Amino acid sequence: MSTTEKFAEEASTSPTTPVVHLEDVGKSYGNVHALRGVSLAVRQGEITCVLGDNGAGKSTLIKIIAGLHEHTDGILSVNGEARKFSSPRESLDSGIATVYQDLALAPLMSVWRNFFLGNEVTKTFGRLDIHQMKRIAREELTKMGISIPNLEQPVGMLSGGQRQCIAIARAIYFGAKVLILDEPTAALGVKQSGVVLKYIVKARDAGLGVVFITHNPHHAYLVGNHFVVLKLGRVALDTHRADITLEQLTNEMAGGSELEALSHELRGINAETVVVRPADGPVKIQSPLEST
Ligand SMILES: Nc1ncnc2c1ncn2[C@@H]1O[C@H](COP(=O)(O)OP(=O)(O)OP(=O)(O)O)[C@@H](O)[C@H]1O
Ligand SMILES: [Mg+2]
Repeated sequence: MSTTEKFAEEASTSPTTPVVHLEDVGKSYGNVHALRGVSLAVRQGEITCVLGDNGAGKSTLIKIIAGLHEHTDGILSVNGEARKFSSPRESLDSGIATVYQDLALAPLMSVWRNFFLGNEVTKTFGRLDIHQMKRIAREELTKMGISIPNLEQPVGMLSGGQRQCIAIARAIYFGAKVLILDEPTAALGVKQSGVVLKYIVKARDAGLGVVFITHNPHHAYLVGNHFVVLKLGRVALDTHRADITLEQLTNEMAGGSELEALSHELRGINAETVVVRPADGPVKIQSPLEST
């Protein structure tokens, strides 16, 4: 039985079969190995958080799933079928919706136009059914609890958080099975991050498999079911919520041993700089100017 047949059989028999599955996936840009031997299972009804420092390979990973780049090694399967996407449209047609931080929506177009961008509703002779599109956009946003008083407003005038929420609502409405979000909370304040996290949970509860890319272990731990940490293009940790605490995840992200090494280095500059590991909070670097 071929690998594809094996996955297809698993997909039809097991409800927990990953909707997106990477096995030993690698990606080289010339001599740069952005990813090596990465395996990852994304399941529907789960939020998979992909964490990692700058340059760890997070964006490369999602670009492969989103059809922007082809992987150079390993297997990517969607619903048990091995795929190599040659365009974002192919990925989208397979039910994978990707929300990029800056390119999520067209800033000069209205809210309802953005909601239907690329999926416009038409009447006879191909004329746009504006009335219908406005009605559906209003209904769907209201259903998600997203309050945008004026749907004629250009999206560029909305906050970053509202834009992310519209993109999430759109993916759910158009029947995505997988939703990929690249650092959706990176540029947001505490309150707006909270709103976006709430819609990430709604997408999960609607049955989507969500891939949430973030630097922030606190945001990841608030919503995640499954955590994958990338380091220098490899998977450094792959675990489920029941098997890790927020403190351990924070430590993993901060690079516990790397912080110790940094602390030693800093001691050379400043004799009293130390790494503090409180039992009930994140690891901190403390300088002598700070009191405990
Ligand atoms: N188009 C490209 N050509 C050459 N090298 C690239 C390209 N894209 C990414 N890389 C390299 O691949 C590695 C991983 O980059 P990637 O953008 O995936 O990291 P990241 O985890 O998303 O980082 P960040 O948190 O900064 O967004 C880096 O070393 C980067 O320089
Ligand atoms: Mg990135």
